[in-house]
Amino acid sequence: MHYAARKDSRRLREMNSVNKLMPMSPAITPESLVYIAGHNGMVGAAIMRNLQLAGYKNILTRPHSQLDLTNQRAVRDFFAESKPSCVFLAAARVGGIHANNTYPAEFIYQNLMIEANIIDSAWRSGTERLLFLGSSCIYPRLAKQPMSETALLTGNLEPTNEPYALAKIAGIKLCESYSRQYGVQYRSVMPTNLYGSGDNFNLENSHVIPALIRKIHNAKVTNQPTAEVWGSGNPMREFLHVDDMANACRFVMELADTAYESATKPMLSHLNIGTGNDVSIGELAKLICQIVDYPGEIIFNTDHPDGAPRKLMDVTKIQKLGWQAAISLSEGLTQTYDWFLDHQDKYRR
Ligand SMILES: NC(=O)c1ccc[n+]([C@@H]2O[C@H](COP(=O)([O-])OP(=O)(O)OC[C@H]3O[C@@H](n4cnc5c(N)ncnc54)[C@H](OP(=O)(O)O)[C@@H]3O)[C@@H](O)[C@H]2O)c1
Repeated sequence: MHYAARKDSRRLREMNSVNKLMPMSPAITPESLVYIAGHNGMVGAAIMRNLQLAGYKNILTRPHSQLDLTNQRAVRDFFAESKPSCVFLAAARVGGIHANNTYPAEFIYQNLMIEANIIDSAWRSGTERLLFLGSSCIYPRLAKQPMSETALLTGNLEPTNEPYALAKIAGIKLCESYSRQYGVQYRSVMPTNLYGSGDNFNLENSHVIPALIRKIHNAKVTNQPTAEVWGSGNPMREFLHVDDMANACRFVMELADTAYESATKPMLSHLNIGTGNDVSIGELAKLICQIVDYPGEIIFNTDHPDGAPRKLMDVTKIQKLGWQAAISLSEGLTQTYDWFLDHQDKYRR
């Protein structure tokens, strides 16, 4: 076995060893026909790696170029023909503040269509289990920290990504409604900020971790004495490695009905996924300097806004069910920097 695959397989064993308290369901086994929607994306690819390492043999995928998930006819035909028994719904139109602000119509329309088409076609073709991936932006802008699942629909959303967040809320409610009316097990998970292999390092629309890795790496290779970080460095944020997220997705998908129902309600059925720990952006930048081996100084540019002072998920429910993150921030950042070094040609101008 290749070294990286051996390392992945050891990590998966370690992750699995901390994640086994609740009964697992026979409704999904490594023999099940599983469709991953969005398998070329950061999360979809991680779910694919996780399932393969766990011995899943019948994984079904279609690239965007072959199946446009906003096309109802095409999605219905695909499901009617392939009849997957389980679906991971990791396809979405995703982007940062700028993209959300510039293309709000595309964000709400495409996400609503993708979810509605997949969830309805899955039910029509007899899919027993489905896992929908949402986001922490479903919670109100001023939600009490840490944000618990019960904060859903208790206040106004952050205006910059409201259309996207509303589509994600509709996704949760689609899963709940199909489960309530038709007795299927369509579940939802809400991840915190994710990072890891396959992340987007394009500085124009990247999230904070890939942006900091790239800026600090650039400062190192061009011998700059300082690297700039936007904002004061004070906001507190939570980060989860995408391989932990993929492990959580399989964990929730494999949970027996009784276990899932013990932690949720028919009309409050989503589960938060995170580490339960946060770090300031300033501390994060220092950690990345150590990992990148950059000896220079971090400069905080307070001309740029900070955003919310704190965003942390309440992960009590998923932890009580027996899942917890296994990859430390420092280990995850090291792995992500290695991935960036292997793929940086893509980002050279
Ligand atoms: N990344 C994070 O930090 C984060 C945090 C919280 C939640 N999430 C959630 O996790 C899920 C996956 O996110 P990600 O980071 O993996 O995003 P991503 O890397 O952009 O992947 C999304 C995937 O969906 C595919 N897709 C989009 N529109 C499609 C369409 N009309 N037809 C077919 N395929 C389509 C994309 O294919 P193309 O690229 O070919 O269009 C891509 O492979 C999303 O629901 C997101 O909300 C992510």
